[in-house]
Amino acid sequence: MSAYQTKILGTGHYVPPRIMTNDEVSKLVDTSHQWIVERTGIHERRIADPKAGDIPSGMAMKAAQKAFEAAGIQPNDVELILFSTTFPDMFFPNTATQLQLKLGITNGCGCLDINAACTGWVYGFTLADGLIRSGMYKTIMVVGAEMTSGFNNWNDRNTCILFGDGCGVTILGRAPAGEASGVIAHVLGADATKGEHLMLRGGGAAVPITAENVGTDVQCVVMDGKEVFKSAVKTMAAHCEQMLSEAHMTMEQVDWFIPHQANLRIIEAVANRFNFPLDKAVVNVERFANTSSATVPIAMDEAIRDGRIKRGQTLMLAAFGAGLTSGGVLLKY
Ligand code: ACO
Repeated sequence: MSAYQTKILGTGHYVPPRIMTNDEVSKLVDTSHQWIVERTGIHERRIADPKAGDIPSGMAMKAAQKAFEAAGIQPNDVELILFSTTFPDMFFPNTATQLQLKLGITNGCGCLDINAACTGWVYGFTLADGLIRSGMYKTIMVVGAEMTSGFNNWNDRNTCILFGDGCGVTILGRAPAGEASGVIAHVLGADATKGEHLMLRGGGAAVPITAENVGTDVQCVVMDGKEVFKSAVKTMAAHCEQMLSEAHMTMEQVDWFIPHQANLRIIEAVANRFNFPLDKAVVNVERFANTSSATVPIAMDEAIRDGRIKRGQTLMLAAFGAGLTSGGVLLKY
């Protein structure tokens, strides 16, 4: 038992105002609203306008301001920023430092970017939990901020229907002595042998952007949807099972399941495996599509703000993404 337990002090989210409907996507590629809804559950997604400042650090600034208010803390109370993104502001300096700047944090707090694709926020949350429980840190901000429209291929109907932009921010701190809040179990994983199923290959050292390949799909997401689908259902269900088993709990004791929002059918398939009613899953994929590592913190913040999630309840978070990475957290809110 650790000396300290982790408490979610406050949450916030931001999505860009521009809504892109399935009908609009149907004008770009050969698809339809009906096909997208039947296969994914997605009705619309948000698209960031970088000219309005909505790059990852800019979206995170707006979400963080709401999280500070909810947590009742000041920006300078943050000791560490863990920033998950698959499309950073730039290669370096990292996006966490850009957020520190935008928030006017002057205490010199640590700043670290995390890239575990859609699982990145869960990785960040787990690292933050360990640092808080060990006593090393008291207040950590975990960010999932994504501008997927920056790498989406608007000529590829297999992928462009799936993604959206947005950001979720969670501020973690020490639970006051005697409070029930805390992380009960967690799991992080990756299966690199399946990495080829979901990639953005270009722009790094392995596949530099050259005059020959600029503007080709090496700069965009490529995916084998069926393989990712199968793997997502299998790993998320396995992680949930592992966490429940470690905690000696059953799914009936979980109040809310907050899964990565990639496809409604994936969420339904995981819920079915546990005979878990879908109305106990937090789902917003129909409005925001897959915002990569921002989906879980956005969904959690929405459900906290509208009163579904209450203090003392048990939450099960699960995510998967390129890598193929995966992870989960079982916690008392
Ligand atoms: N509109 C119309 N038809 C389409 C579209 C589209 N947008 N996309 C594919 N099709 C066609 C295919 O070409 C195929 O046609 P064919 O039978 O003539 O070959 C047919 O529809 C069926 O395609 P499938 O790939 O079998 O469709 P499926 O039911 O598997 O759904 C989907 C595809 C939605 C991509 C699904 O596989 C999926 O959601 N996979 C998981 C993807 C995912 O979660 N990605 C995010 C990972 S998280 C991260 O880290 C980014």
